Amino acid sequence: MNTINRQWRIVGRPEGQAGTDHFEWHEEPVPVPGPGQVLVRNLVLSLDPTNRLWMWERDTYLPAQKLGQVMRGIAVGRVERSESEALPVGTLVSGLLGWQDYAVADARAVNRLPADPAMTPELWLGLLGHIGITAYFGVTDVGKLVAGETMLVSGAAGAVGSLACQIGRILGARVVGVAGTADKCRWLVDELGCAVAIDYRREDLVEGLARCCPEGVDVYFDNVGGPMLEPVLDRMNLHGRVAVCGAISQYNRTDVSQFDPGPRNLFLLVVKRLRMQGFLTSDFASRAGEAIRALSQWHRDGLLRFRLHEVEGLENAPAAMNMLFVGTNLGKLMVRIAR
Ligand SMILES: NC(=O)c1ccc[n+]([C@@H]2O[C@H](COP(=O)([O-])OP(=O)(O)OC[C@H]3O[C@@H](n4cnc5c(N)ncnc54)[C@H](OP(=O)(O)O)[C@@H]3O)[C@@H](O)[C@H]2O)c1
Repeated sequence: MNTINRQWRIVGRPEGQAGTDHFEWHEEPVPVPGPGQVLVRNLVLSLDPTNRLWMWERDTYLPAQKLGQVMRGIAVGRVERSESEALPVGTLVSGLLGWQDYAVADARAVNRLPADPAMTPELWLGLLGHIGITAYFGVTDVGKLVAGETMLVSGAAGAVGSLACQIGRILGARVVGVAGTADKCRWLVDELGCAVAIDYRREDLVEGLARCCPEGVDVYFDNVGGPMLEPVLDRMNLHGRVAVCGAISQYNRTDVSQFDPGPRNLFLLVVKRLRMQGFLTSDFASRAGEAIRALSQWHRDGLLRFRLHEVEGLENAPAAMNMLFVGTNLGKLMVRIAR
């Protein structure tokens, strides 16, 4: 076992993209768990757009992080020392374990993951973790997608988006993806089963929506926020649903007061009797098992692909986080800390 715990701590509030000024590399002795606690060896760290929100000075859906704290992050790791009978040494767990090699956590504050060799730490962090659960309930419960409908997905080639697209296809919908490169659009159509895709950096969105959604949009799974909503609302069908999952196009601002103004045509919610609903993965915590069962079955049956974009080494976490904002990730971005 190592004796040193390497960490990234947050030391600044970015304006725009986060950079080296906002993080500090810190090394300290590996901590010792107290009664009811465990020492977790982090294996894989999730990089999420929300990491950038957690750097804001203002609270979001979680309290703002204080400067000097270990950067908050979701990870999967293995219990290496235990002071809790509930989590013996060797147990695989997930939780807010931070950008570090080792975390001491209360046994009740982490999720115990089943010991199934087919379910790797990477699958638990992505497909069967917060990413898959978000995509599943966003499509089924919030979007209320029905077979034969058209679902439009923004951020379609990313972690949540690529799963949402495939879930929509499995449920019998016609899925249209929006992504930022020709390669991503090809992947969406050729491998994930989208009917068609829009490269939003190269094609005018109004024209793209007319070309790809001639019969309108029934469900819009929105991962990006910002100006895209206005042309999409124009294209929505009567009684359509907008599942607001996230707004990555805006997160590099200092807080919500800096966001782009909302769409001018919000009145279309009245005209077309649309429903627009934001949601968080945690809203569905008590039903996570339902999503995990469906996602793992589809994955086993070869219906659902999970693509991993792995970056090697904790030291590369801050730079890798920005890949999400320039769009250089394809699939679920994560950092390999240990094997
Ligand atoms: N509600 C929840 O509980 C929950 C849980 C997880 C994630 N989320 C949200 O889901 C969204 C996707 O997260 P993820 O983890 O799956 O990330 P991701 O999609 O794997 O990565 C982010 C992608 O967003 C695209 N992007 C970046 N800037 C953009 C912009 N200005 N306009 C349009 N697209 C842009 C990039 O792809 P392109 O090349 O296509 O631009 C990039 O690859 C985020 O908004 C996140 O906050 C919400």
